Amino acid sequence: MRVVPLGERFAAEVLDLDLTRPPTAAEHDAVVDAVDRYAVLVLRDQRISAEQQTAWLSGFGPLDSEVQRYFNRLAANRLGSDVVTDISNVDARSDVAARLDRQTIMNIGNAFWHSDGSHYHHPFRYSMLAAVAVPALGGETEFADLRAAHDRLDARTRGFLSARTGAFWSAYNRIRLGIIDPPQTHGLYPPVEWPLIRRHPGSGRDVLWVGQPLCQVSGLSVPEGRALASDLLEQATERENVHVHRWAAGDVVLWDNRSVLHRGRRFDLAHRRELRRVGTKDDVASLGVLDMPSRTDLNDGFPLRLRGAPEPLRT
Ligand SMILES: [Fe+2]
Repeated sequence: MRVVPLGERFAAEVLDLDLTRPPTAAEHDAVVDAVDRYAVLVLRDQRISAEQQTAWLSGFGPLDSEVQRYFNRLAANRLGSDVVTDISNVDARSDVAARLDRQTIMNIGNAFWHSDGSHYHHPFRYSMLAAVAVPALGGETEFADLRAAHDRLDARTRGFLSARTGAFWSAYNRIRLGIIDPPQTHGLYPPVEWPLIRRHPGSGRDVLWVGQPLCQVSGLSVPEGRALASDLLEQATERENVHVHRWAAGDVVLWDNRSVLHRGRRFDLAHRRELRRVGTKDDVASLGVLDMPSRTDLNDGFPLRLRGAPEPLRT
């Protein structure tokens, strides 16, 4: 197995690794070292089945089934697995889905910067996407390095953030998109609390833990926290801190959700884009689950109960 950096800062291509069989102990350790360092690993010409993808990644930790079980409440899953998520605009009959298809709509949420599962008490560690069919234009996946984002903070901001926590809420994204959750999903995923600066255990590097689901910051009013979150996300995703993956069928990308944010870019929904995702659970949980806002409205139900009380307004 060989690892070739793709950029000056992060992301690398892995050569001479066959994903059709489970990793050997040496390959496992080499992949963990590489993903600790580069955060995003690209493998090309890997025509693997969903079963091979699942078998390979299961060598790296328990696989997540929470996301797929959630999706199963909303839309028929043609893949028939609790651990493989259909990141596609393909319907249950394997046709390109209508624009209003529930799965297509849900996948549009992937267009915002996020780390898989940051809104869960038990988030993802690794995500692995395998491309089956891709459009000729658009549909790239972009990655932003949260370690570099941390390192570029000025000392004052770093000190300010190190004492803060934030609320990450999945519905915040969907509210912004205008997606109305069906009643059977209400209350399933209340917001969770995270430190805004975390240490990555593999690399020892600190990361700026932000993303689109961040909807409140401890010690700040809701608007001030959201303005700060927006500012930090903008800084973390400046173009020189972003790696763009342009998909070809047969590509596999593995990334560490503790180190990078990602987002899917727009494409013409009349064209087929078919990717399969499998992810492992991390062994670090959030600081805790927060109260569910009383209504899925942008303002009602806030502020959530966070550890630090909002500071009083000074007039
Ligand atoms: Fe994602």
